[in-house]
Amino acid sequence: MAPLILGLESSCDDTAAAILRGRDIVSSVVSSQSDLHASYGGVVPEIAARAHVEKLDLCTEAALEEAGVALSDLDAIAVTAGPGLIGGVMAGVMFAKGLAAATGAPLIGVNHLAGHALTPRLTDGAEFPYLMLLVSGGHCQFLRVEGPETFARLGGTIDDAPGEAFDKVARLLGLPQPGGPAVEREARSGDGGAFALPRPLLDRDGCDLSFSGLKTAVLRARDLSLVGGALPRQARADICASFQAAVSETLAEKARRALMLCPDATAFAVAGGVAANGAVRAALEGVCDRPFLAPPLALCTDNGAMIAWAGGELHALGRRDGMDLSPRPRWPLDTRAAPLLGSGKRGAKA
Ligand code: KG4
Ligand code: ZN
Repeated sequence: MAPLILGLESSCDDTAAAILRGRDIVSSVVSSQSDLHASYGGVVPEIAARAHVEKLDLCTEAALEEAGVALSDLDAIAVTAGPGLIGGVMAGVMFAKGLAAATGAPLIGVNHLAGHALTPRLTDGAEFPYLMLLVSGGHCQFLRVEGPETFARLGGTIDDAPGEAFDKVARLLGLPQPGGPAVEREARSGDGGAFALPRPLLDRDGCDLSFSGLKTAVLRARDLSLVGGALPRQARADICASFQAAVSETLAEKARRALMLCPDATAFAVAGGVAANGAVRAALEGVCDRPFLAPPLALCTDNGAMIAWAGGELHALGRRDGMDLSPRPRWPLDTRAAPLLGSGKRGAKA
């Protein structure tokens, strides 16, 4: 029987624990902190770390109960050891070390981005190598996934992550947070061709992306559309639709180039909150010339199952960590690629 693996995640603003046996998600618990951070307009690292300390044991207890197993049944304990907010990562790693010391189960430190990038193997059994686009509020990169520990970064954002741009645009237009779903809803009644917004970096070779200039262009479009100091409803919808079209087209063109760079990729997979956007998803699927994999949203956003899965892949390779496992706030998946210039609102991730 496949080993029973606990996965723990606490690198950003979700505390999560899940138990997997092979590709079977026996239980998965996610406790979001979004209410705690809402009034600050972003994740406050110190508040996040304290909340993780309070929630890690409760989430683990709930995951064990939901699975109907005891701590002593676990064959391994996998934990996000970076990259992310250092206080949260430390809370998770220390908690996992305590569990490992108490149960004698092996400890396995997992790269959070590897968790996202290996999810298509959990959900669809994707075969190496495949192309992956991570696209969320904190991540944006194209990866060629070659093995559980082998990733080549083909490109990524040099400034904001796309989800961050959706959130900022929503704020500029007086729409609620998180901005992505609000902008998408508004865009339904708008005209995507109403405003000629830029398609950033399309003139540059390769797969790098940039979203901060697009946000500034939205600010200008808003100011030009004001009537007596107020933004008419139709103009707001048109700006949302035009912005969404610019993001979708830019991501799709870069995806087309990334696919050309990986002729042997077995599939193209997306993950991250922005992959929930219907227009973005359709544009990406439109340029995809091989199987297009989009895991269910609950497994695209931060969760414990992806950490348990990635931990399971490492466990199978014989990887074990000791009590000297260190939290790593920065931990690029591709150590050969030059660091990206930007970082995203969730702090430097890769
Ligand atoms: O993956 P995620 O839940 O968390 C991390 O950033 O790690 O992604 C959240 C981001 C937010 O910026 C949110 O606005 C964006 O994903 N998002 C969307 C949609 N749903 C969530 N962006 C565009 N369209 C959506 N439907
Ligand atoms: Zn994440």
